[in-house]
Amino acid sequence: MKFNTQLIHGGISEDPATGAVSMPIYRASTFRQKELGAHPKWEYSRTGNPTRQALEQLIAELEGGVAGFAFASGSAAIHAAFTLFSAGDHIVVGKDVYGGTFRLINKVLKRFGLEFTTVDTSDLAAVAAAIQENTRAIYFETPTNPLLQITDIKAIAKIAKEHQLLTIVDNTFASPYNQQPLKLGADIVLHSATKYLGGHSDLVAGLAVVNSQDLADQFAFLQNSIGSQLGPDDSWLLQRGIKTLAARMRVHLENTAAIVDFLTKTPEVAKAYYPGLTDFPGHEIAARQMKHYGAMISFELQPGLSAKQFVDQLQLIGLAESLGGIESLIEVPAVMTHGSIPREIRSKTESRMS
Ligand SMILES: Cc1ncc(COP(=O)(O)O)c(C=O)c1O
Repeated sequence: MKFNTQLIHGGISEDPATGAVSMPIYRASTFRQKELGAHPKWEYSRTGNPTRQALEQLIAELEGGVAGFAFASGSAAIHAAFTLFSAGDHIVVGKDVYGGTFRLINKVLKRFGLEFTTVDTSDLAAVAAAIQENTRAIYFETPTNPLLQITDIKAIAKIAKEHQLLTIVDNTFASPYNQQPLKLGADIVLHSATKYLGGHSDLVAGLAVVNSQDLADQFAFLQNSIGSQLGPDDSWLLQRGIKTLAARMRVHLENTAAIVDFLTKTPEVAKAYYPGLTDFPGHEIAARQMKHYGAMISFELQPGLSAKQFVDQLQLIGLAESLGGIESLIEVPAVMTHGSIPREIRSKTESRMS
């Protein structure tokens, strides 16, 4: 089945019990068991729920993986991936990541004995040099939030395999429409499904897809043990959003092309960040590993111009955190999504791109 068809007919798109063309919301916490010890397929909704399973099977197919898992948020999916590891394990992490991921790593996971080294994952030599005896995984976003930096997924997966490490990719900024990391050698792909996959700014959700049965078993165990899974109502809403991903993305891409064109011709804009620009660092890698370059753009105003004055004057484009919905949004990362990253760390990441 082709990707755009899969969006609508993939996974469990109909209710096997009734033939309903929209998978019903199974709003039940538990399922009656016919006899003691029979262990039926459905026991308790934290462990498994038919509406959630329909969504999980759909995302597994869209990313080309073995199994999918739905979580209460993208952050919960990222947290679940990091709980594969134990105190004393070391993970190499991309330098430019969503501010909430930075906070999770530095303010939560380090307290539990996980060790991290942050590197520019577009620099393959730096990634190889950061690997230690206790390294277990390489984690990164591509394109990154907010600088749209590109990392070569295939090249990182090769390095990771040589050292028996997992490659974990946050694919939120691309969506599986534009990029499928598992097909390029990654082991785990993560999404803030709050964004393109949900697509309507009306839910918060996370998804993970893994490339092996062993990882699937571990994720199922962690999802059930931690209890951060997505409820049936949001599972249904997310599946409905996913059905129109291709249609929405076509419009996103058309609008993005017009905005990028405007920004690059506007003298008040000092610099536009978009992987589709031919002189953008990583453009050639993006051209190889992405179908399209996505619909996220970052830009800097000329020195002396006020970001506050600029965003306060916008009328249709809303000042809000998030992305990937049907409305256009704008934000100032330093004081919004990335406010939890100290200024000196932020400026180091920014200077690498100038
Ligand atoms: C790249 C990326 N990953 C993860 C997250 C976290 O997702 P959520 O807000 O659904 O927890 C975000 C949120 O903005 C994000 O941009």
